[in-house]
Amino acid sequence: MTEESTGDVVRGERFSGGPARGFLSSLAGDERIFDADLAVDRAHVVMLAEQGVIDDDEAGEILGALDAVEQAGHGALPDGEDVHEAIEAAVIDSIGAVGGKMHTARSRNDEVATCIRYRLREDVLALVETALELRSALVDVAAEHTETVMPGYTHLQPAQPTTVAHYLLSYASALERDTERLFDAYERVNQSPLGAAAFAGTPFPVDRDRVATLLGFDGVIENSTDASATRDFLIETTGAAATLATTLSGLAEDLIVFSNKGLVALSDAYSSTSSIMPQKKNPDTMELVRASAGDASAGLNGLLTILKGLPRAYNRDLQRAHPKAFEAVDAVTEATEVAAGAVATAEWQEAALEAAADEGFSTATGVADLLAMAGLPFRTAHEIVALAARRAAERTSGEAASQASEQGADYEAVAAAAAEVLDDPLEEYVSPEAVEEALDPVHSVAMRDSFGGPAPDSTEAAIVRARSRLVEARNDLDAYTDAIGAANDLLEDEVTAYV
Ligand code: ARG
Repeated sequence: MTEESTGDVVRGERFSGGPARGFLSSLAGDERIFDADLAVDRAHVVMLAEQGVIDDDEAGEILGALDAVEQAGHGALPDGEDVHEAIEAAVIDSIGAVGGKMHTARSRNDEVATCIRYRLREDVLALVETALELRSALVDVAAEHTETVMPGYTHLQPAQPTTVAHYLLSYASALERDTERLFDAYERVNQSPLGAAAFAGTPFPVDRDRVATLLGFDGVIENSTDASATRDFLIETTGAAATLATTLSGLAEDLIVFSNKGLVALSDAYSSTSSIMPQKKNPDTMELVRASAGDASAGLNGLLTILKGLPRAYNRDLQRAHPKAFEAVDAVTEATEVAAGAVATAEWQEAALEAAADEGFSTATGVADLLAMAGLPFRTAHEIVALAARRAAERTSGEAASQASEQGADYEAVAAAAAEVLDDPLEEYVSPEAVEEALDPVHSVAMRDSFGGPAPDSTEAAIVRARSRLVEARNDLDAYTDAIGAANDLLEDEVTAYV
């Protein structure tokens, strides 16, 4: 079509051509909402017929034309400003002027808002699905490693021994909240704006609830201006995705650091090599997972910036908003899936983990706890153990400070430090055997059996609870998916009655 002959079916000659045509058009990107738009059109047409706004025959003709549009696919659509206009043009092309009745009692403003929600809800569920896969991988691997001790870090410095199970469960817990945030977002995404028209409602006797039911929405957005204008659901969804991506980025970073220390081996399938250094095995997948938090945060910032200060009601800026959410959700879904695979297949290096577990005198806190349990004020206990650590470091004089700090302390060192601080010998408080035990990482972990702590008994109980919450989340996910499926069937049945 040349620019002079633009006269498109939908808008006639008015504003239909010009140099900014491509700039205005969202048609290419709208492929993502092509199916959504067909569903929205169908539900709207069925409702119009039920309400007597159009005849059943007219509805049948329009619905038949929509089937043909679907068959031909998005690529066959005529040129247009967006998918909504192009589908309408294709319908009118195929059945003539009666096709123009499809757009009665609505506007592209409520139409596009509905399409975005209709599509995004599926994407949210797909993201939840991958988050559940990752949770399940974390919990399954944790179950194999409730007794595998490893160094726990703060400030990336050895801090206290923990177990691989406890470490992995910490991410499973975070992902539970990430899943809940996505479900929460889903509830507000899955509301129908249709029937709001441009923003100010319509004089036609539309049944907004009926359309919502036919499209599987849980309700309608009441205020028609709010319904067309708001994109807060995009911010919320992208925010939830970005939060999940932040969780993922921490996990990815840990796996990069741990594989660098030889504590975990990523499977080859999740590693990459160098094009020049043949010996290299690099954790590239985890680096890309870490980077996906950047994509998500970029999307969130883009959205907030586009939406900030927009006047009511519709503004074309909105056309640039939802792609940000789709891109962010895609990036995070892919990264979550990869993280799930990497976690499921990584091999924790038990011997290296155990050897590293008491590096940097990381059992010191446990020894201080032991002395405090024997009746010393914790502050005094802390002082004794700190002194023992310092003496142990001094014993290795001449070596670099970092190496010295890696030197552990034994019973003698603790007893000597106690003699400097206490009036009575250490044995008045605790036996040498008890101190030796506290210095052992395996025992140290087993002692910390508080609720949610790393002792094998505690983590085994935590795994049982995590598994049952995983089952609940799967049931919720299935219920949402089934509700969408049921609505699709209902709409299909209703449409079939007319064509
Ligand atoms: N394609 C537009 C969007 O994505 C919807 C069209 C509404 N256009 C308008 N000029 N009111 O937001």
